[in-house]
Order: sequence, then C-alpha cells, then structure tokens
Amino acid sequence: KEKYTNKQLIKLALKAKENSYSPYSNFAVGAVVLGGSGKVYMGANVENASFPAGCCAERSAIYSAISNGEKVLDKLVIVASGNDIVYPCGICRQVILEHMKNGKIICAKNEIEYEEFSIDDLLPKSFNLKK
Ligand code: THU
Repeated sequence: KEKYTNKQLIKLALKAKENSYSPYSNFAVGAVVLGGSGKVYMGANVENASFPAGCCAERSAIYSAISNGEKVLDKLVIVASGNDIVYPCGICRQVILEHMKNGKIICAKNEIEYEEFSIDDLLPKSFNLKK
C-alpha cells in the first residue's frame, strides 16, 4: 500500500488548486483524497455562470474517489487561495460525513502549517439516516 505523508498530500493539493476553474470568485481551492486503496484523488473548485451549478474542491475530490471505487476515504486535504486556512463549507461537511466517518480532514495553509480534524469536530450533532 502506497504511503503518503501529510506533507506530500498537501503538495498534491497545491497542485490540484492550479486546476481550479474559478473565474467568478477568483478564489482557487484544491483538495486531495487519500483512498483506502492507497491511491490519491485530486479535486479543484469548478465554477459555472449559473453559480449554484459550481462544485467545491472537496466534493470534486470525494466524488472522484467514490466514482473510482474507493469505499473508505482516509484523508482529505484542503488548500486555498491567499494566506489563510480554509475550512470546508456546510454542504461539503455533510458530504464528508457520508463518506469519511473515520477519516481525517486536513486544512492547510502550506506544507508545514495545517490543522487536522475529524468530521465530528467539524459537524457535531449531524443529520444521519443510517446508523
Ligand atoms: N469553495 C471550495 O471549493 N471549498 C470550500 O470549502 C469553500 C468554497 C469554492 C466554491 C467557489 O468556487 C469558491 O470557493 C468561492 O466560494
């Protein structure tokens, strides 16, 4: 099983951010999911002239991992434009909950400075249909 350090995953998320399509907000976000298979899946935010049709980087990466057969997602790394740490939006937190009950979410400023969370940290008292 291939191993990635947090530093390597953050580097990949910074690469993914370069693929952001964000001409409306000029706010680029990159994400990387480390799947249980050991493979990584990159995501970027992809905007649309009809604004709600756009997709966040986190969901792009998660849906890519799931679409490629991953059943367990171990890590999700998020990086964004500017010099600040970005935390996942509310909709993405609900999606993270669905697929990453036991995974780690890493919100990074750069390869050295980052914060690590579980979904229970980010979305307490959540809505669930499955037990
Ligand atoms: N965005 C993300 O990709 N992830 C987040 O967690 C916050 C917001 C994107 C959506 C939109 O393309 C841009 O950032 C500004 O909201």
